[in-house]
Amino acid sequence: MERTKTVRKAVIPVAGNGTRFLPATKAMPKEMLTVVDRPVVQYAVDEAREAGIEHIVFVTSRNKQAIEDHFDDTPELITSLTRSGKDAQVSELERLLPKAGSVSFTRQQAPLGLGHAVWCARDLIGDEPFALLLPDMISYGARGCLAGLMDLYGHVGGNVVGVEQCAPEEASQYGIVATGAAVPHGFAITGMVEKPKAGEAPSNFYLNGRYILQPEIFGLLARQQRGAGNEIQLTDSMLALSDSQPFHAHPYDGRTFDCGSKHGFIEANVAFALKRADIGAAVYQSLRALVLSHEGATRAA
Ligand code: UTP
Repeated sequence: MERTKTVRKAVIPVAGNGTRFLPATKAMPKEMLTVVDRPVVQYAVDEAREAGIEHIVFVTSRNKQAIEDHFDDTPELITSLTRSGKDAQVSELERLLPKAGSVSFTRQQAPLGLGHAVWCARDLIGDEPFALLLPDMISYGARGCLAGLMDLYGHVGGNVVGVEQCAPEEASQYGIVATGAAVPHGFAITGMVEKPKAGEAPSNFYLNGRYILQPEIFGLLARQQRGAGNEIQLTDSMLALSDSQPFHAHPYDGRTFDCGSKHGFIEANVAFALKRADIGAAVYQSLRALVLSHEGATRAA
């Protein structure tokens, strides 16, 4: 295996049911819920492009048509916006439109778990390393997490994951890595555990939904038995792959919002709105007033 072969492709799995957001996700993909004015999945696509990814493979499912449409051209809309002189919106839509042929879609026929979703992309990825971005995890920082993973990958090759630190009492909610020797842009991983029992986590570095994986993962996923939650778990196959290939972690210097949870989704909307030049100041004033009145009401109660 050539350990630092260029990473050209990314997989974005969008086939889950999004049950934590029902009823919003009854007829709409959760990946199309908006953070300020763009769908959650757009953030992952922008991050992948920023990191130099040339081709994105979406793993979709029934009722996810809106995602394909979102990444397609809209000539009638562009014509109508141009006629109305809305040039800024036209340029933004044109900027976001992927180059023809640079996105592919494949279907996961049943939501059997993240590991199974990744396995569904095997033929479109082929025999090369690839990035994986979980779209409900949104990077918030000077640059996206995947660009940092690419820096680390350039030094060490092999398999690379994004990590962040959580409070020790939260470790049992996440995939946690055991830390080894430091390298430029990260450290070696000496172990991985999915949702460790309280007090048994080897560190407080959790997997934040960004990965660069070697194609040998597909053979392991093909044989992977169902694990936690009766789903085919990616972490279980990564653990098996770590017996024969190196894994390193890149600690993200920004932060990631988990838009798969209601709390994380609302936090992300607030954080991204506050840093917007057009609405940040107004949002700040409204939020401040809301928080103060909420505190007043709580004190009075
Ligand atoms: P999640 O577990 O957060 O998504 O998976 P979910 O299952 O849709 O959410 P809930 O728990 O029911 O609310 C993270 C990402 O992996 C995708 C999801 O679409 C999401 O983007 N995924 C998950 C798949 O593509 N297939 C699966 O079988 C599971």
